[in-house]
This record gives sequence, structure tokens and C-alpha cells, in this order.
Amino acid sequence: MYRAQILGTGSYLPKDVVTNQDLEKTLDTSHDWIVQRTGIHQRHIAAPEEKTSDMGTIAALQALEMAGISVDQLDFIICATTTPDRTFPATAVKIQANLGLKKGFAFDLQAVCSGFVYALSIANNFIQQGQGRYGLVIGAEKMSSIVDWSDRSTAVLFGDGAGAVVVGAAPSEGSDKDRGVLGTYLHSDGSLEDILYTDGGPSSSEDVGKIKMNGREVYKHAILKMGAALEEVLEKHHLTSEDIDWFVPHQANERIIDALADRLKFPQEKIIKTGALQANTSAATIPLALDAGVRDGRIKPGQLILIDALGAGLAWGAALIRW
Ligand code: ACO
Repeated sequence: MYRAQILGTGSYLPKDVVTNQDLEKTLDTSHDWIVQRTGIHQRHIAAPEEKTSDMGTIAALQALEMAGISVDQLDFIICATTTPDRTFPATAVKIQANLGLKKGFAFDLQAVCSGFVYALSIANNFIQQGQGRYGLVIGAEKMSSIVDWSDRSTAVLFGDGAGAVVVGAAPSEGSDKDRGVLGTYLHSDGSLEDILYTDGGPSSSEDVGKIKMNGREVYKHAILKMGAALEEVLEKHHLTSEDIDWFVPHQANERIIDALADRLKFPQEKIIKTGALQANTSAATIPLALDAGVRDGRIKPGQLILIDALGAGLAWGAALIRW
């Protein structure tokens, strides 16, 4: 038996930084309002010619380097994104081409902010089924391309970037002492589509549309549903929050993370937060946060990591990983 072990992480953030003070010049907003409501101080914004695949490729190369895996060893690439380069083909095949890989298979996964949790779950299933030995799981987003920059209620929340992990087949004894993905728990409820969506798409408006959101409703569901997913993981694995070394949640809003931490009694020292400097990069937030935690030495081999996300759909989920 095998399961997917994370062997390397990588990240990319565009050079251009837009601060809250920069946004004050074009929007009726303030640094204090944004920080108080979200914890966000700045976000990275991609250059016009910079595509989601460009960001994903750089993050992927870093992850491969850390893993010590060559491009030729890859069997699959999954790119979680809601901002693909093109409606088709998938951004993942562009990344495959950028890497110079001509074998295996590559595809995109659309679960918006939960995309990385969904993609990791699928990668783990491929590895468990013997459909691949090594794979890339990428979250890459150019959210700036679907933000309505005149809408202060959403424009302040998002940023661009990419994170990637290399997964490899690790021997499994079928116990939670194994290293790798120990469990993934996915959920969605399409009846909540109208609280967060883009007002466009190929089959409806023939364009991509811009983000529309009922912030209060999203906030309420995020705490309820991400909290329930965390409880589900702890219960299924007979754990308490004290057993978890690092809680790495989707980085939409510091208030959501703090409310979850209170509910599950995670001390602040066990939470990896990147939202202040990166804002919400949708599917990229969790792999970006994992990479930050690995590179600064917080995340170490053998530790238990709990990831948790919610986004449009609504789609949400959590996963338990032994590093
Ligand atoms: N600057 C200043 N004032 C603003 C801004 C802004 N950027 N945006 C909204 N306001 C105003 C509103 O117009 C409103 O004014 P009014 O009282 O005169 O009508 C007032 O601030 C309060 O607005 P609310 O929307 O009620 O503010 P709230 O306290 O709910 O905070 C926020 C808004 C930050 C969006 C919050 O609801 C939230 O974080 N929701 C979660 C949304 C989210 O994270 N979405 C990301 C995608 S989903 C995900 O990743 C989980």
C-alpha cells in the first residue's frame, strides 16, 4: 500500500506589491478598515503579461528542486485554479509544456479556494491506486484578473501567486503513523452558489466575469463549515487539537482563522498565517503557506499538519498530513 507524501514545496509571488495605502488612492477604503476586518496589509499583483501558468511553473520548479525529483520522473500534474490562462486547454498542460515534460497526464481542477485540498485528495487517490508514483499538485491564481477593481467590498481581499508541492508514493502501513496524506474530507453545497460567484462564464455570458460576494454570508459559512471539517478530521483520526503540530488554513481572512482557532482551541503559535502580506490567493494560499512553513523551519518531518479551506460553491474540505 502507498500514500502520497509531500516531498518538496515551492512558491511564487509576483514582484509588484500593492499596499492598502495604494488602494486608498482609488477606492473609498482605508488601511485601518482593511486590517481590522481582514488582517491584510498588502497583496502581490501579477504583471499584465504574467499568466497563471508562468507563476505555477516557477513554484513547481522550486518544489521539484526541494524534492530532488527530476521533471522526467513526474507522472501527473494537477493545477487547482479558478483563473486559467485560457478557457481551454488546461493551465496544467501549459505548465507541463513549460517544464518540458511530454509524458504522464495533466489537468486543472476547479474548486476555487478549496482547490488545493481537492487536488491533494485526488493526487493521493492516484498514488493509492498505483496510477502514478510522483506528481505535482499546484495552486496558482491570477485573482487580479477577475476582481472588480471599483468594488471596495471585494477588491481589497485578493492577491496573485502560486504554490506547489511534489507528492511521491510512500509505503503505507495503513496507520496514522505513516508519513503522507492520512485523510481528506471534501464537501460542497451548490445551493449556496449565489453568495460568492463570478457574474460571467463561457456558457452564460461568453466572458469570464468579475467576483460578486455577500461577505457576511461567506464569513458565517466559512466559520461553520471549516470548523465542522476540522472537527470531522479530529474525530475520524481520534485526535485533539493538541495533537496537531501546525494548522495551515486557507488564508482568506485573519478573523476567520482566529474564530476557527478559538473554536478548536488551536494556540496562535501553531497556526501558519500568510494573509497579511499575500491576501487571498484562492487555491494558492495553502501551498504558499506550507512552503513558507517548510522554508523557515517551522514544519518538520514527522509532524502532523491540518489543512482546511472553504470557497465558492460553496466547496470546502480539510486534510490531515504527516510531513
Ligand atoms: N473599506 C471600507 N468600508 C467598506 C469596505 C472597504 N473595503 N468594504 C465594505 N465596506 C463597508 C460596507 O459598505 C458597509 O458600509 P455600510 O455599513 O455603510 O453599509 C460596512 O463597511 C460594513 O460592511 P460589511 O460587509 O457588513 O462588513 P463586514 O464586517 O462583514 O466585513 C468582509 C466585510 C471583510 C468582506 C467580511 O464580511 C468577510 O471577511 N467575509 C468573508 C469574505 C471572504 O473572505 N471572501 C473571500 C472569498 S471566500 C473565502 O476565501 C473563504
